Amino acid sequence: MGVAASLVRPTHWKARPLVLESLFMGMGNALRNALPLRYGTPHMWMELVLRAPLLLLNDHAHLEKKAATNALELLGRWPDPTPPDQWVQIMTAVARDECEHLAIVTRLLARRGGRLTKYHRNPYATALRRNVRLGRGTEELMDRLFVSALIEARSCERFLLLGEYSPDQELANLYRSLHASEAGHYRVFVDLAKDLGPASGVEARWSELLDLEAAIIAQQPQYPGMHSGVGNE
Ligand SMILES: [Fe+2]
Ligand SMILES: [Fe+2]
Repeated sequence: MGVAASLVRPTHWKARPLVLESLFMGMGNALRNALPLRYGTPHMWMELVLRAPLLLLNDHAHLEKKAATNALELLGRWPDPTPPDQWVQIMTAVARDECEHLAIVTRLLARRGGRLTKYHRNPYATALRRNVRLGRGTEELMDRLFVSALIEARSCERFLLLGEYSPDQELANLYRSLHASEAGHYRVFVDLAKDLGPASGVEARWSELLDLEAAIIAQQPQYPGMHSGVGNE
């Protein structure tokens, strides 16, 4: 299947040598352009979310938790009749990555005096998941994998932006350190989905969902969150 090779190992966040940081500057556009997304986040979004970094970290922590839960939920949904090679190992590895990200983000949140809230909503993910073709066997699984890939890709795009432009160097380092891992998850989910059916049908569905994602992210309300919008400002 070949997807395990593209799974990026957990990233251990730590301060990077200055030379790497300067190398990263200017690479953001190229990396963002490599993503298939059809809506480019405006710079205004960064200005808005960085006004409330603790709330942004809290939202981010919840998203990492949900990503871990999603990987474990997918673990039990392998295509019938038998799990593809490495399916369980891949989902376990993604869940482990996300738990590690959760630990990193919650530690930083606590050190900065923030608190993890008990409840969290993500209207973007909820809207995306409404497009999953429930009860349709392989098509449902394909949609679940594509939706997971879209969420990872959007997170990746936003980590790249924050990593490049956040004036808070500690936060910039955090986001830079996470984007490669999320890019690896995006690739894994896409590859698994594309293994599920005839290429023409799979590509058409992927294109359809990319359009839906672009419309959904553009309509999100403004709040300090990774998947928020820019509202009317
Ligand atoms: Fe993550
Ligand atoms: Fe991820």
